[in-house]
Amino acid sequence: MNRLVPFHLTVVITSAFSDSTESLFHSNPLSRIMTDIFGMIMSDAASGEKAIHEIERDDGYAHESLGSQYTAPFSEWNECEKLASVEVKGKILDIGCGAGRAALHFQEKGHEVVGIDISQAAVDAARQRGVREVHLMSADELDFPEGTFDTVLLFGNNFGVLGEEERIVSMLKDLHRITKPDAVILAATRDAADTDNPKHLAYHETNRSHGIPIGMVKIRLKYKGYIGDWWTLRMVDEEEMSIIAERSGWQLVKTYGPRSLYVGVLKKK
Ligand SMILES: C[S@@+](CC[C@H](N)C(=O)[O-])C[C@H]1O[C@@H](n2cnc3c(N)ncnc32)[C@H](O)[C@@H]1O
Repeated sequence: MNRLVPFHLTVVITSAFSDSTESLFHSNPLSRIMTDIFGMIMSDAASGEKAIHEIERDDGYAHESLGSQYTAPFSEWNECEKLASVEVKGKILDIGCGAGRAALHFQEKGHEVVGIDISQAAVDAARQRGVREVHLMSADELDFPEGTFDTVLLFGNNFGVLGEEERIVSMLKDLHRITKPDAVILAATRDAADTDNPKHLAYHETNRSHGIPIGMVKIRLKYKGYIGDWWTLRMVDEEEMSIIAERSGWQLVKTYGPRSLYVGVLKKK
């Protein structure tokens, strides 16, 4: 298996949603590499497919996840994101907007919303579903004028979408610049320690032994015979989120939802 040292990943692979089910992963020798596999899933979900895919961790642990969660109406969102929505105000930046689940909802509520995603197919899917402004842009290359946004969404587990802590800090510093003084960031993530699954607990130990945060996971997606590239996702507990926020000019002022899947509310210090 293609392992990138030192990430012997140790935590439950997390979709941001609770309807994922663990399954056995069977490798498919005919699988083809697909660099925009997220886009494929978003595109199919936007066309009404369930888009069931596998999320594989680099230790071989895998579970199934539904792509249709990325087009779910507000009533089917996770409780934490629903609750945190009361904090949304003004002009919104939706980072890693996917098929535009959140962007579309808040646009329909009358907000001006800008979605960005690193996947061209996801950008296309969001546009096709009606999100008015979507850009192909990475979270670590935010190209907007100072003081543009009132609210930043990092929904669907996207607080740690950039993986390494320094990249997350850098993104938060950029967000400090391109948001208004009283802006909020709504950051969805999971506390990886909230599990009693022996496989995950064993991996936590491995991560610890390598000096890696337990919520750092290296994963890839498998869908319709395609395999995506490996990438790293960081999940954080509240204390870690607070430390990362403080390093970036933000502070964690509140959380919504249980630690297994919560939204942290960040405001400027
Ligand atoms: C788990 S999905 C969440 C989608 C959406 N936020 C939601 O909750 O429905 C993650 C999304 O982040 C996008 N993404 C991954 N890395 C990114 C990056 N560096 N910059 C912007 N988007 C990224 C993926 O293409 C994908 O659409």
